[in-house]
Amino acid sequence: MKQSPRQNSSRLTVPVDLGQRSYPIHIQAGLLHDIGDCLQQSGLSGRVVIVTNSIVRQLYGSIVNSSLKRREFRPLFIEVPDGERAKTLGWASKIIDQLVAQRFERSDILLALGGGVVGDIAGFAASMYVRGIPFIQVATTLVAQVDSSVGGKTGVNHRLGKNLIGAFYQPKMVLMDTQTLRTLPKRELVAGLAEVIKYGMIYDRHFFQYLEDHIESILKLETHPIQYLIKRCCEIKADVVAKDERESGLRRILNYGHTIGHALESMSGYRKMIHGEAVGIGMVQEADLAYSLGLCSSKVVTRQREIVQRAGLSWQIPKMKFSELWTAMQHDKKVVNGNIHCVVPKAIGRVSVIPLEQKSVKKWFAQSR
Ligand code: NAD
Ligand code: GLY
Repeated sequence: MKQSPRQNSSRLTVPVDLGQRSYPIHIQAGLLHDIGDCLQQSGLSGRVVIVTNSIVRQLYGSIVNSSLKRREFRPLFIEVPDGERAKTLGWASKIIDQLVAQRFERSDILLALGGGVVGDIAGFAASMYVRGIPFIQVATTLVAQVDSSVGGKTGVNHRLGKNLIGAFYQPKMVLMDTQTLRTLPKRELVAGLAEVIKYGMIYDRHFFQYLEDHIESILKLETHPIQYLIKRCCEIKADVVAKDERESGLRRILNYGHTIGHALESMSGYRKMIHGEAVGIGMVQEADLAYSLGLCSSKVVTRQREIVQRAGLSWQIPKMKFSELWTAMQHDKKVVNGNIHCVVPKAIGRVSVIPLEQKSVKKWFAQSR
């Protein structure tokens, strides 16, 4: 994988409004070269530990390192393994061991350079070390740029379940260089589009229409549509998080597609299917379930399926028994008092959260095969 030459665009900024914990999201092609300036302008100084993995470090480590050194920061790198296997308490503890060994102080900075995995584990380590040090997210995957780097959910997996250990810990700033998407494997880009489509379905029918109109240019990573979609997703997520930071109500809508999606992901052992691929199927199937329950029109299901397909995602549930799917759905974090709560569309851009009855889901499952 080779970096593309530096390209600049104008900088877009989305504020995340959380009172004293508010922060900006900066989006710009070529922004990695200006990380040192961004940190300095926000009043940060001192040592910076960059948590990343070998793939991202090889691609972008030296750009970030030079940019920080130009502004008198003293960066050092900590590498975690690539992929989901890094998200363990063991690796969070290894990051902390290094902060202790380097005598990191409360004003020093931890910077996550990578996708959702690096962001989640680095943010969790930042939240724990001396009860919290400044944390910066530099998001380099589409999933991270439209979802995981915003909103302060950090954490690691337990062997019995994904993201079972964690903390809400907001970053001081989120930086997104849209050029980093050019080195992202196509499969990861397409998986990220599932989360993008999700925002249209849950919050903004005009944005959904925009995706229908521009999906081809988006897949080609054309600068304007890519910047616009990242900005719009960040605005929506920022709005939802500002209203319900700790997921006691509204924030649950961000889990659209995830009830069935998480079940499929866990049944695949988190290997055959990556998260966004499972969410793509989950969204189409949850829309179809909503239609069978009389909650939305068939047009909603058709538009949902067509945009998922055009993005290059699958929409059909692999062959399985209902009992297997139902059991996996019950292990979801969103189960309340034993009831599965599911986000379902009522129209494009509007959803609600409903408890699911086994009987009606079984009937839908049998009919939809
Ligand atoms: P990831 O972090 O594993 O990145 C995907 C792959 O792309 C990895 O191999 C990575 O090394 C590589 N990569 C990263 N940037 C690259 C680049 N610019 N060029 C080339 N390769 C690059 O996966 P992800 O999809 O970014 O994130 C998934 C994780 O995010 C999951 O653990 C999920 O639980 C978490 N997540 C968290 C939240 C949240 O709110 N905290 C939201 C959604 C997902
Ligand atoms: N990715 C879901 C959330 O941040 O709440």
